[in-house]
Amino acid sequence: MNPFAIPVFGPDFGPSSFNHWSLPCRPAPEMAGLSVSNSSAGEQSGEEKEQEFYHLSVLKEEVVHYLAAQPGRLFIDGTLGGGGHSEALLQLGASVKGIDRDADARAYASQRLARFGDSFECVRGRFSEMADLAAMNHWGLVDGILLDLGVSSWHFDAPERGFSFRHDGPLDMRMGESELTAAELLNTSSEEDLAKMIFHLGEEKSSRKIARWIVSEREKKPFESTMELADGIEQLLGGRRGRTHPATKTFQALRMTVNDELGELETFLASAADLLKPGGRLAIITFHSLEDRMVKRYFKDASQVEIDRPEWPAPRPNPNLRYKLLTKKGVAPSKSEIEQNARSRSSRLRVGERISPELS
Ligand SMILES: C[S@@+](CC[C@H](N)C(=O)[O-])C[C@H]1O[C@@H](n2cnc3c(N)ncnc32)[C@H](O)[C@@H]1O
Repeated sequence: MNPFAIPVFGPDFGPSSFNHWSLPCRPAPEMAGLSVSNSSAGEQSGEEKEQEFYHLSVLKEEVVHYLAAQPGRLFIDGTLGGGGHSEALLQLGASVKGIDRDADARAYASQRLARFGDSFECVRGRFSEMADLAAMNHWGLVDGILLDLGVSSWHFDAPERGFSFRHDGPLDMRMGESELTAAELLNTSSEEDLAKMIFHLGEEKSSRKIARWIVSEREKKPFESTMELADGIEQLLGGRRGRTHPATKTFQALRMTVNDELGELETFLASAADLLKPGGRLAIITFHSLEDRMVKRYFKDASQVEIDRPEWPAPRPNPNLRYKLLTKKGVAPSKSEIEQNARSRSSRLRVGERISPELS
């Protein structure tokens, strides 16, 4: 069996949910290169059928364990993606509201999860606006929220989305529909802004050199394709550093800027606790140090019962107390998960449990 194949029930799309916030949460047959095709149709039951690879969910068992899904519980999956985590929660009898800003993800996951009928609802939007989406759709307080940050494997593997330099494609990198493309950002930002962006969001030491090169190259011809940028940086910095391509950090910085990834996370963290029932859990999977640092710091600040300052005679209750931390250290994938899915290597799961608002 193909290790990247994911089980799926039959091709009955079932009812899908629509409201004024949720747009095309229906299968998109025109999605290039990806269909929910059954590799072994015929006699077999739905679960034995397979779906082509979209994304292999990371830390799935751990997420299911910490979110404690069961019938009667309601979860919001703020990064629906290929729907793998949502599916695991639905299989345990819970209900899921799945949000994604990306049309391909919504189309794919809606088709995959249609068999769960009304237990699953797919909504178009960003997780930074989760509080508004919950209010508009009357979801009430929920038992758990999941964020699995970043992009799906589908994004990286689809040349036309421009996330990866493994294939040539337009320098796009947008998850949603409305942001600037990576090409527009590269071709219009000042040298100083480019250097700052590549340094802070890519943690790239050669940021100034790269920014200078970008500005001089674009005077000759504006950047258009992923390969132009990747090959140029490789020539500029001289070959690979170990297994990592020299353009990796610049690509990360561009993607994070195009999609305002840290801004999304910051806004979400500020309002997520108000969406959870007491005892409800917030689970966040991060993939790189910048977002992990933000989540770790947030949970630390929001789980300290008291705070102390040298100038205070005694510690004081923490006005920002919201969570009990369930994962003192981030949970890392097992060795066997990393062997099966190298992309899981850098993932970390952090989980907090909402404490009663009277205590916070
Ligand atoms: C790593 S994938 C999630 C994979 C999913 N957990 C699964 O098991 O298939 C991340 C998804 O989150 C979406 N996404 C990223 N940032 C988002 C945001 N700010 N708001 C909504 N969706 C976002 C991406 O479009 C992508 O589909």
